[in-house]
Amino acid sequence: MCIFTIYKTKEMSVAKKQYKRITTKSLVEMKANGEKISMLTAYDYTMAKIVDGAGIDVILVGDSASNVMAGHETTLPITLDQMIYHASSVVRGIDRCLVVVDLPFGSYQSDPKEALRSAIRIMKESGAHSIKLEGGKEIKDSIKRILNAGIPVMGHLGLTPQSIYKFGTYTVRAKEEEEAEKLMQDALMLERLGCFAIVLEKVPAKLAQKVAEALTIPVIGIGAGGGVDGQVLVMHDMLGMTHEFNPRFLRRYLDLHTEMTNAFEQFIADVKSKDFPNENEQY
Ligand code: KIV
Repeated sequence: MCIFTIYKTKEMSVAKKQYKRITTKSLVEMKANGEKISMLTAYDYTMAKIVDGAGIDVILVGDSASNVMAGHETTLPITLDQMIYHASSVVRGIDRCLVVVDLPFGSYQSDPKEALRSAIRIMKESGAHSIKLEGGKEIKDSIKRILNAGIPVMGHLGLTPQSIYKFGTYTVRAKEEEEAEKLMQDALMLERLGCFAIVLEKVPAKLAQKVAEALTIPVIGIGAGGGVDGQVLVMHDMLGMTHEFNPRFLRRYLDLHTEMTNAFEQFIADVKSKDFPNENEQY
């Protein structure tokens, strides 16, 4: 256990030294060199500072903020203004990683001009480095327009939570031949258009690997197996804060729900018993 920890720490400091700042170009280089890409979500300054300091390659200011920060059932309600607020807080916390921000539902689907306006607002008002949007062929013109303005774009295929009411469930996507073929064509199209990376969410591992092998840009998976170029998780899930959410793909690195509950209970007990504050904890 101890040796494992030391080994991992060493490995991380090597990765940290290699790239002083992560850019979209560094991610493509990592794929070419066979180095896996690490990505986590963050939505605020303090968490962004910790995760950036740990050496993460990419922070995604995901519209999952709608779920884990605001308590909505889906990602649909979060607004562009709210995403900009989260993204600007994250940007103030980082020194090294690349920051990608989700375009929220309703800010890019209606027409390419609106999509570009939304992407520009994110870049200008938050200071983030790139944007992500969900979908393939259907939003091709919007992606082109954003890329033409010089804004780096990350694609997102497979389970696209903004379309949850079309899918009906959060189960694995592209299990059938026809949907798998469409996904492959969409991924190739995103690369041709000039996207710098793609997220593949909840698709069979074999298909995800096939897509990753067919592309030169990185494919970052969530519930897409180990054959892709990187992995992303929602921070609150991997820290064990959302203990009621238990998908098969999730690895929890802490049980913060329990740890935090214990800490809060202890604080309450200390206040009630007048143990806190003691003589050293006052002026
Ligand atoms: O919003 C988000 O957190 C995401 C990840 C699940 C990839 O899009």
